[in-house]
Amino acid sequence: MTDIVVVGSINADLVTRVERHPQPGETVVGEDLVVMSGGKGANQAVAAALLGAAVRIVGCVGDDSFAAPACAGLVSAGVDTSRVTTVPGPTGVALIAVDESAENTIVMVPGANTQVTADMLGSAAELRRLTESIILLQGEIPVGVTNTVARNAGGRVILNLAPVVPVAPATIRVANPLVVNEHEALGALAVLGVNLAGAVSDPEVIAGKLIGAGLRSVVITLGPHGALVADGALVTNRPAMVRVPAPMVTPVDTTGAGDAFVGALAYRLAEGDTLEEAVRYAVRVGAFAVTDRGAQPSYPTASSELPEANSAGVAR
Ligand code: RIB
Repeated sequence: MTDIVVVGSINADLVTRVERHPQPGETVVGEDLVVMSGGKGANQAVAAALLGAAVRIVGCVGDDSFAAPACAGLVSAGVDTSRVTTVPGPTGVALIAVDESAENTIVMVPGANTQVTADMLGSAAELRRLTESIILLQGEIPVGVTNTVARNAGGRVILNLAPVVPVAPATIRVANPLVVNEHEALGALAVLGVNLAGAVSDPEVIAGKLIGAGLRSVVITLGPHGALVADGALVTNRPAMVRVPAPMVTPVDTTGAGDAFVGALAYRLAEGDTLEEAVRYAVRVGAFAVTDRGAQPSYPTASSELPEANSAGVAR
């Protein structure tokens, strides 16, 4: 039984440490270079699998030397890679620099991720069967595939619109939840055709607009400040919103922490948690993931001791 099907990107991450990020036109010296398994789809699949979920990934790698390191994390986490297709050309690669304050810059070269097709999931009937529990989507494969999978999915769709890409509004509306950071939340509103009058930075206002645009539920991640959960189904005339605080940790590398959050969220929803319960767990997994280097190598297993959040969320 597969708990979670991820249809998403698989990359090799080339990671270096820099004292500070370069300005345009400037060269800075990196400390060392490590090749790690990455890609938002693969990262989320690995995060969920390491915590205990049965996960399958559908995606593409190229026929080059980066394919093996790109898939290594999936294989060692026990993710079912039988639907990973090797296509001619380069594997997706991300060039990542992490500075002394743990912030990163990422240049993603999608390569084989552009070759993912809905056919790789099989027939429409097979797609329904494959996705009868939870299907996890991001923004690093062709939008047409994301739209087709969301339209045909038999189970619960979690859409992490990262990066923001112009998926069909119906794809965003089918998501339960849409998971975005504050910046991506504004992008999702734009994709939905919702115009904001003036600059809006209050996450509750943005979440309210998203629910008002017909979304079932929304999770806005707030970095060290945790996450905001907005569930359109809980009350009739306005969404119920809860702020979930994050544990305080000393960050080493924030790369892939959002993916750890999404993978953990999917795992706990597959286990039967409510959305708020799943988010309370996911913020702890996300906090754990910033305390070590890289994306997948920093993720906890089921036996890891997760940091505790300090205070209860505030109901709004
Ligand atoms: O979210 C982090 C991921 O984004 C990296 O692993 C990189 O591959 C890019 O896709």
